[in-house]
Amino acid sequence: MDGIKHEAENLRETLIKLRREIHAEPEYGFCEYKTAKLVAETLKNLKAKVTEGVAKTGVVAEIGEGGPVVAIRADMDALPIQEETDLPFASRVQKMMHACGHDAHTTCALGAAMILARRNLKGRVRFLFQPSEEQKDAEGKSGAMRMLEENVLEGVSSIIALHTKPLPVGSIGVTTGAALAANDTIKITIRGRASHGAHPEEGIDAIATSVQVISAIQQIVSRRLPAVSPAVISITTINGGIKENVIAEQVELGGTIRSTGGAARQKLIAEIERSLDVGRVLGATCELEIFEGYPVTMNDSAVTEVIRASARELLGAEKVIETLFDPWAEDFGYLTAQIPGAMFWLGVTSERVPNPVWHSSKFDLDEDALAVGASVLAATAERLLKKYL
Ligand code: NI
Repeated sequence: MDGIKHEAENLRETLIKLRREIHAEPEYGFCEYKTAKLVAETLKNLKAKVTEGVAKTGVVAEIGEGGPVVAIRADMDALPIQEETDLPFASRVQKMMHACGHDAHTTCALGAAMILARRNLKGRVRFLFQPSEEQKDAEGKSGAMRMLEENVLEGVSSIIALHTKPLPVGSIGVTTGAALAANDTIKITIRGRASHGAHPEEGIDAIATSVQVISAIQQIVSRRLPAVSPAVISITTINGGIKENVIAEQVELGGTIRSTGGAARQKLIAEIERSLDVGRVLGATCELEIFEGYPVTMNDSAVTEVIRASARELLGAEKVIETLFDPWAEDFGYLTAQIPGAMFWLGVTSERVPNPVWHSSKFDLDEDALAVGASVLAATAERLLKKYL
């Protein structure tokens, strides 16, 4: 373990340089050509077995020989946001930015590969650099879904990944069980009957009805779900009405729901459907459409424990923070649905970056986190291999 810590410290400058290079040239999901090329070249220099063009722009690489196999996953895509930092390595691409830290995730996984390439591994570590975590393609498939279609988990015993998070740099966060939410997009259509604005009694007001429906929906989490079952319902769009003197015939509501998946998700959807009865009693027709998002990221307790043990040795017990379920969603959930896996949080805040806001034009992170992330990934992968021998 001392060896890994030392290796990671030596890699500090290399990793910072690499992250800045990726940061300056952000690419949209399924278009990560330059990033994938840089990733593949870096891995080839380590004498890894590299396969390019997996799931369009993904890169798969292996280090080590024989079995067992464990996997480390990183995401490479950026967001269509105009960067507004004055960092010397700020995005050179208009309206494109690494505002979710995927540049750091990719760098940490490459750092883990650099560390592991120098060790005498008993088994193999497979690196999955996936495209498009942030969104699905025209056929409704995200990067992880596309990677799965190419059997990237074949023979893999377990998989780990990290994501940046507002925790102090030098620390990591670990959640056992449901770590990130299952998310769905909802669309509700409320249809009433138009009439003159002076004679609302002749119509069925879709706007007045929608107020009652939203109010009922707002009570689901506070009054219909047990306190131990975390859930979020956010109605985020409302559209209706055509003119000031016409009673609105139709209102469309949009929103996002977050749950721990499975029965909790079904209950949430059933309760939203039930809320629509309020609108029906008032004479409107109400329809709910669900557009399925990512599944819950379920952290396997045994894999999580290996992350904890590795990080305690590398960073000290006080730097391993127990974290709770977070209603963010990640397409890593598709991978943990297949085999035991876990995602841990990489702390990136410091005095220099006290308050990073993910998906914002001013997002930044403390680069001291890069060596930390690389070392925890490498140490955990090595420990997992020993466990499966
Ligand atoms: Ni992200």
